[in-house]
Amino acid sequence: MKRVRKCVFPVAGMGSRFLPATKASPKEMMPVVDKPLIQYAVEEAVEAGITDMIFITGRNKRTIEDHFDKAYEVEAELAARGKLELLELVQTVVPSRINCIYIRQPEPLGLGHAVLCAEPVVYDEPFAIILADDLIDAAPPVISQMVKVYEQHQCSVLGVEEVPRENTRQYGIVKTDGSEPGVVSAMIEKPLPKDAPSTLAVVGRYILNPRIFHHLAGVQAGAGGEIQLTDGIVALMREEKVLAYRFQGKRYDCGSKLGYLKATVEYGKKHPETGAAFSAYLKSL
Ligand code: UTP
Repeated sequence: MKRVRKCVFPVAGMGSRFLPATKASPKEMMPVVDKPLIQYAVEEAVEAGITDMIFITGRNKRTIEDHFDKAYEVEAELAARGKLELLELVQTVVPSRINCIYIRQPEPLGLGHAVLCAEPVVYDEPFAIILADDLIDAAPPVISQMVKVYEQHQCSVLGVEEVPRENTRQYGIVKTDGSEPGVVSAMIEKPLPKDAPSTLAVVGRYILNPRIFHHLAGVQAGAGGEIQLTDGIVALMREEKVLAYRFQGKRYDCGSKLGYLKATVEYGKKHPETGAAFSAYLKSL
């Protein structure tokens, strides 16, 4: 059995819902309290035993590369001022023995195309995908839960959760055989509530067999000129078993303003430094 050692982080989207914040920097660099979304995502992958982090970047990629790089000037300055706790915080952004690999997606041609850009590095191994704007508070982290499911069943696994029927237009919706994890028999991208085969939505966590690349290479651009990951998964599903796994954890859609604000409040309340004072402040409002 091949282990899941690689994780793809597509970070080349436009982030148009967060303009102007995303005009010059990717939405995945937006902080929730004191850590950018992409760092939460990388920490989740590290906890699952993943060692190769593959970032699919677009325009404005510099900040993400810099974030996971050594910051000589900052480190020297903190050391000189004796701020050792902060120094350690900066130095441990990337744990040792982790490889960060950057691939440029030349144009934002969709999530499916972004994933396809990872093929030369992923090659013939099963791999994880984390969409950092879906921040999920979970213990163990969701990708760890899904790696376990992958190891048990040896097939692709989609992270899913129930959503209100009126929101199906925002997600890929799956139909399963009802078992847990369920075998996926249909998947529709952003269906109208009346057309949705269920209310089980795929959110930003996947473990996929490398065979997905073959199918993504054959996908035609759909609505908006984008190559959809969903179309590749539908083709994969016709050939082999794909499972939908209802993860344990609370998800915040940080790609939307409301979800981002909710995450900021919840993580702010739990933060070791600010939690007590922030909770007291919220109560006083
Ligand atoms: P979204 O659908 O959230 O799109 O992409 P977006 O462009 O990032 O944000 P909005 O809708 O304009 O506000 C889902 C994920 O796929 C990545 C995004 O970075 C995000 O993590 N993505 C999307 C790419 O990497 N490349 C693309 O061409 C499209």
